[in-house]
Amino acid sequence: MSSSGSASSRGRTSRWVGEIITNLKEEAAKAAVAQVKSGMVVGLGSGSTASIAIKLLGEQVRHGMEVVGVPTSRDSEILGRSVGIQIGELKDHPVIDVTIDGADEVDPKLNLVKGLGGALVREKIVASATKLEIIVVDDSKLVDFICQKAPLPVEIIRFAHESTMSRLEKLGCRPALRKRGGEAIVTDNGNFIADCKFSRIDDPAAMEREINNLPGVVDNGLFVGLAHKVIVASKGGMRTMQKS
Ligand code: A5P
Repeated sequence: MSSSGSASSRGRTSRWVGEIITNLKEEAAKAAVAQVKSGMVVGLGSGSTASIAIKLLGEQVRHGMEVVGVPTSRDSEILGRSVGIQIGELKDHPVIDVTIDGADEVDPKLNLVKGLGGALVREKIVASATKLEIIVVDDSKLVDFICQKAPLPVEIIRFAHESTMSRLEKLGCRPALRKRGGEAIVTDNGNFIADCKFSRIDDPAAMEREINNLPGVVDNGLFVGLAHKVIVASKGGMRTMQKS
């Protein structure tokens, strides 16, 4: 096979894998949206899976469902409005009935890593005000222990961020400032993100507290005890992991 031939077949394979993952995400998102009822306040998650759920919710709204959406990022606010969802704020809706969000890692105890999309601070605020936090993932996100695959995103303020990153490193990780096109990305809250590569985290609750105790840290992507249900879609079908 010529090298250009193999490159194009690799391209076809990765498009095919991409389509499968998108279909799995869509199945999981559908199952989550089926749990939303008219009159509910709904937390609108961030990321590609949550975006599918927002679009599906928009379809329900067009069919007469009445919900108020509380977004977890500027992007989900824009998307929610564009599909006709009434947008509200947490100060007016302090209790959220159900939030549908994605995750980067899910362990067997339903601890999560979130924030590869950069919205972890608002996602955690909304999740902690939510009665039923539903996480929708494809099975590639399941791990045996936290930080098995993903780095842990930590939102840090810009002032003296190098010194905050040194303090993070002392906790046993390799922190890297998240950049796009050579420039540090800035979150919706005006901060930077340090992606911290740990080899593993055995006690996520303790690590969440330890990181958040560092000066300069706003919050981190460890979500401990916040997910009530995780809907996992795989090629073999769908299953729900519940908080025990
Ligand atoms: C956004 O900040 C994240 O927490 C996302 O929920 C997470 O990165 C999952 O995103 P995908 O659904 O795009 O994989």
